[in-house]
Amino acid sequence: MVTFTLNGETRQVDVEPDMPLLWVLRDELKMTGTKFGCGVAACGACTVHLNGEPVRSCQTWIEDVEGAEVTTIEGVDNKAAQAIQAAWVELQVPQCGYCQSGQIMQASALLIETPKPSDDDIDAAMESNLCRCASYARIRKAIHRAADIMEA
Ligand code: FES
Ligand code: FES
Repeated sequence: MVTFTLNGETRQVDVEPDMPLLWVLRDELKMTGTKFGCGVAACGACTVHLNGEPVRSCQTWIEDVEGAEVTTIEGVDNKAAQAIQAAWVELQVPQCGYCQSGQIMQASALLIETPKPSDDDIDAAMESNLCRCASYARIRKAIHRAADIMEA
């Protein structure tokens, strides 16, 4: 049995200790906002926050989540995430949308750490979040816009 906090609520799951957090979220807890892309920590689609840090949930074993705080796209609601979501809508960032929950989780973690990021900061933070629709230019623009919204 593993106990952890998910989006502010205590959750308990009775699964194999080496089950990836991504499977726990999607299959056990029916939280399907976090996406499966590659399964090998190479695309970023499954990004969630673990104790405030962005992690790839496909390569995070549930036994390592005991006692931790997990935040997913369904629950992320800090100032950075609110600004990111507003900027994403304003600039119409998503195309198919599949990668976007991971992009938003990664970008909101960046803005918490670095509220006024440079292009280089953005590229460094976002380079491992892949987008098959190549929305990279809009993502970068929207992160700058979100930083302005946060500052206002
Ligand atoms: S599904 Fe986890 S990084 Fe691709
Ligand atoms: S918006 Fe389609 S994969 Fe990113």
